[in-house]
Amino acid sequence: MKVSIIGTGYVGLVTGVCLADNGNDVVCVDIIKEKVDAINEGRAIIYEEDLEQILVKNLKEKRLRATTNIGEAVKSADVIFISVGTPSRENKAIDLGFIENTSCEIGKALKNETNYKVIAVKSTVVPGTTENVIIPLLEEFSDKKAGTDFGVCMIPEFLREGRAIYDFMNPDRTIIGEYDKKSGDKVFELFKNFSCPVLRTNLRTAEMIKYASNAFLATKISFINEIANICELKGIDVNEVAKGIGLDKRINPHFLHAGIGFGGSCFPKDVSALISSVYENGYEPKLLKEVMELNERQKLWPVRKVNEIFIDLKNKKIAILGLAFKGNSDDMREAPTFSIINLLLKKNANIHTYDPKATENAKRIFGNKINYCKNIDECLNDADVCIIATDWDEFKKIYDKFNLMKNKIVIDGRKMLNPEKCKELNVKYYGVGYKNE
Ligand code: UDX
Repeated sequence: MKVSIIGTGYVGLVTGVCLADNGNDVVCVDIIKEKVDAINEGRAIIYEEDLEQILVKNLKEKRLRATTNIGEAVKSADVIFISVGTPSRENKAIDLGFIENTSCEIGKALKNETNYKVIAVKSTVVPGTTENVIIPLLEEFSDKKAGTDFGVCMIPEFLREGRAIYDFMNPDRTIIGEYDKKSGDKVFELFKNFSCPVLRTNLRTAEMIKYASNAFLATKISFINEIANICELKGIDVNEVAKGIGLDKRINPHFLHAGIGFGGSCFPKDVSALISSVYENGYEPKLLKEVMELNERQKLWPVRKVNEIFIDLKNKKIAILGLAFKGNSDDMREAPTFSIINLLLKKNANIHTYDPKATENAKRIFGNKINYCKNIDECLNDADVCIIATDWDEFKKIYDKFNLMKNKIVIDGRKMLNPEKCKELNVKYYGVGYKNE
């Protein structure tokens, strides 16, 4: 099938590359020329496992190309995906600016088209947006009617950063929100070969499924973090508790890793946007508000531990292992390290950091206020305390490096180390939901 993807961020680029790899003819569109050039030259602008390799393969086999010309891309496609960003406004409500512009542009391009095309929304938008914002703009600018002259679907995306290609190719489910059956049938063709359940529903239900999924997972994380804080007070290891409750099929073992909270481009933004959107309906979503507040508190758990150890942080060398919001990613958006570092800087700590991929992004945020190390050894050298903030695999094997530190103290925010092993090595261990003797 001929497919165009408008917006080449995480979701757009991964969708484009994967649909091309599945045999479709794909045109990626972006307003930023550098991004378009990079795609056409086979350079992935984001760090994502296997992405560049599949991009290059599909460019060579001529199933994929990129352009800045949205009109041309709309003309050549049977299905046009909207996957532009939906950032937060200052008040945390969703910013639909890119969605509105893109809808107008697609509408204009549809004006002179006679072939039936389906517009499929992949951007995360609050329930009602496709019906109340996107369709009216498409109709106004095309002078055509949704359902008659063109089709509309809403296909939420559930991929995780760092596992984006795998998640796209091996989905748990495909959700097709459809304006009418004809629209849904067309998009179903694109996804029918994935071996997963397909749920066909209406547009606003599909939009809500995306928000409810993220809100549930964020709640699960804040829940286990709350249990962790209780365990810590009562001298219980939360990881054993998580194992125990996870054996209940109704609970399941996934997303029960207590730590220093969730970050990234989706959970914080989407839960906040949902909260903000229901205020407009006169409802106060108390549980979701608490999920967010608990998460903000949890991010600062390592700083509370540092304060328990040292009264004054002036000139204390604090080694922070990990900057990204999670391992296998260079993404610093909403990363707990942002809050941790800012608070430690206020306390005049001397901060040394190491991250295998996120250092360049961190430099753009913190500049020369903190130090960036080339490896774990340099970061730990002569440090007073070490904070593990990201779950990079290499942080699981640092036991022989504690001798480099001035004080052998580790604050493990991501359960990377074995507390018993630390004890054997005379390393003072602090873990989320773990009671120190
Ligand atoms: C998430 C959703 O998983 C995905 O379906 C959606 O499309 C986008 O948002 P992502 O942000 O890439 O994906 O990361 P994910 O792996 O889900 O982790 C999110 C955050 O939660 C990370 O900061 C991670 O460290 C944290 N987390 C996750 C925990 O603290 N504990 C857990 O048990 C799981």
